[in-house]
Amino acid sequence: MMEVPNRDNTAMPQRIQDAVARVRRNAAGRWNVIVVATLLALAFVLWGGLALSSAAIGAAAVAVWAALWPDVMLSTAMAEFEARRQAKDAARAAGARIWGEMVHALPNPTLVLDAAGTVMVMNAAAVELFPGNGTGRHIALITRAPELLTAVDSALETQTVQVCRLDFKVPVERSLAGSVVPLNVSDSEPEDPQLLIVLRDLTREDRLVRMRADFVANASHELRTPLASLKGFVETLQHAAKDDPVARERFLKIMQQQAERMARLIDDLLSLSRIEMKAHVMPRERIDVGAIITHVAQTLTTIADEKPVTLEIGVLPQAVVLGDRDELIQVFQNLIENAIKYSHAGGRVSITGSVVPGATPGSDKLAIAISDEGPGIAPEHLPRLTERFYRVNAAQSRHAGGTGLGLAIVKHVLNRHQADLQIESVVGKGSTFRVVLPLKN
Ligand SMILES: Nc1ncnc2c1ncn2[C@@H]1O[C@H](COP(=O)(O)OP(=O)(O)OP(=O)(O)O)[C@@H](O)[C@H]1O
Ligand SMILES: [Mg+2]
Repeated sequence: MMEVPNRDNTAMPQRIQDAVARVRRNAAGRWNVIVVATLLALAFVLWGGLALSSAAIGAAAVAVWAALWPDVMLSTAMAEFEARRQAKDAARAAGARIWGEMVHALPNPTLVLDAAGTVMVMNAAAVELFPGNGTGRHIALITRAPELLTAVDSALETQTVQVCRLDFKVPVERSLAGSVVPLNVSDSEPEDPQLLIVLRDLTREDRLVRMRADFVANASHELRTPLASLKGFVETLQHAAKDDPVARERFLKIMQQQAERMARLIDDLLSLSRIEMKAHVMPRERIDVGAIITHVAQTLTTIADEKPVTLEIGVLPQAVVLGDRDELIQVFQNLIENAIKYSHAGGRVSITGSVVPGATPGSDKLAIAISDEGPGIAPEHLPRLTERFYRVNAAQSRHAGGTGLGLAIVKHVLNRHQADLQIESVVGKGSTFRVVLPLKN
């Protein structure tokens, strides 16, 4: 919490300080006046007549009053000043408490500094950013970010709002936007709150902007490739292959494949954005996962036979999960299709299921593993596999008709189902993609 410093007499207005000094300087003289006046009055009472002694006592009383008057005035002024100072200190303490409460309630890293640049208060988010207790220390001792220190100096000097951007490389890479705001509170002292620093983490925002830009670039690139090929074949059919029925047939077939590829890409993109829009709504249908897998495997028997690849479905537990039927079909369709597509001819794809007991009652999970004996995936690719358009071998995947969006869709669907995707792979031996879904009890 913010500290209100105690003040000494040096904080008194100059007028009162001068008066105090003057009164102290003249104290001896005043006491001399009082003693002399009293002695003279006594002398007149002892040796003078009644009228003379009365006049002398009156004159002495006036002299004593005049001598004591500065002390009376001074103590009144000092009492007044003390009362005003106490009221002001109480107001400052209340203000400091409100500042402290407000800053601690803010979610962004926030600090309050005095006119010397000393940190008066910093909230938990600021402590996390600048570790250690920085309260009571100069801002330059808690951060060495030159942009922030320059902004603090300029804000104190010019009393205008300063903005800056901070890029930290360690301990983790992060970027922050800082606003340094002079508080301009009237009647404030240098040791009162003078500057408010509010920082905003831009790391997530930057990443989203970069991802959006990458996504637009990737999507246009993926669409442009088949489109350019279509345009090329249309021109060839109009000119060179105009009268060649064999070439025409061949080209039309390729054109059809390219058009289908574009349609699939657009379908996948739409599907992804539909799933993203529903991301925060937990699906509620009761789904028999075993039945879904049997259905998907049946629809894929043709491509498995074409390869050829043996598709084996083990005994799956009779288990119900809460989910979205169409989306779960998409998940298993892509995973089983990948296993078949990337397998070597003559390979085997197996699907097995088990119930994984949870640590607490009601937290059991259903794990479905899809394993192949294909080429496997090198470890450096694994973390990026579920990114949109990420392919280990783009040419091979494109050739196989892939858009590179399959696993991105899988990940989004599973996130919505509060489920996990675990990938294990050994290059040259094969891969296992495991879907772990929470079981409905
Ligand atoms: N079972 C697997 N074995 C080896 N590599 C795989 C396997 N599954 C996926 N991959 C790799 O992961 C990449 C991404 O897979 P993903 O399903 O997202 O895209 P895709 O299969 O290329 O296209 P799509 O699924 O959109 O038709 C693939 O291009 C491939 O390189
Ligand atoms: Mg795929």
